[in-house]
Amino acid sequence: MCSQIQVSDGLVFVRALEKEARQHRAVNHPYLHQLVAADVPDIQWALTDFVFQYSAYSFDFIRYLTATIAQMTHDPHRKALLQNLVEESGKIDAENVALLASMGIEQAWVDGVPHTELFLRYLNAAGVNEAYRRRTPYAEAAIHWRDQFFSLCFRKGPAQALGAMGLGTENIVKYIYQQLIRAMERHLDIALRDRVFFDLHATLDDQHGDTLLNITLDYAASEEEREQIREGMLAALNLRAAFFDALQARAMAIKPV
Ligand SMILES: [Fe+2]
Repeated sequence: MCSQIQVSDGLVFVRALEKEARQHRAVNHPYLHQLVAADVPDIQWALTDFVFQYSAYSFDFIRYLTATIAQMTHDPHRKALLQNLVEESGKIDAENVALLASMGIEQAWVDGVPHTELFLRYLNAAGVNEAYRRRTPYAEAAIHWRDQFFSLCFRKGPAQALGAMGLGTENIVKYIYQQLIRAMERHLDIALRDRVFFDLHATLDDQHGDTLLNITLDYAASEEEREQIREGMLAALNLRAAFFDALQARAMAIKPV
């Protein structure tokens, strides 16, 4: 009886955090709206800059996940997250193959292809070549986001890591990617196969998010852990919002060609 009350309490708490995350500035950032509306001096420049700078963070995703897994002390938690890790290397089960097919995504485009490679495929299609990389290093804001996010998953304990990776990331990225995909569809000529990293994550991260939420629920038993979960979530969202702020300033400073 007592544990039932705790579980349902925890669920109410986690649901409230989900709502808070969904309403956070990082998810509804004005720069995302500007990209959809092409309300920037040079939309092609801005979208390419956005994705390239985003890659500084995204290419390290396995490190964040591995750091989080390393902090899990219960076997079922570790196993569930290892499944997410396996999927990062490109493994897709039959159910998801069918789901992706319904979106026009062919199995051969993604099956067995690590997600970092899918990201690279986008960058290549967007013209991010060696010359681009030479003249455009990663911005300080991108490096800061990458390093601070890793630190959240590695140094602040399991509850903060779960808040950062689950509620603060996997549960909200689809809302961001949906806006980004809209902007790409409107303003760039990039094929679905080349853009598939974003479409894939706009769909499959829901399942990754659910896995993390279930584990988070187990951690949401005490007041102290709940605070840690919320702190991790907000830190992740604030880092993301700060990154968007910096990219917005870069894009607005560009002189139109
Ligand atoms: Fe991924």
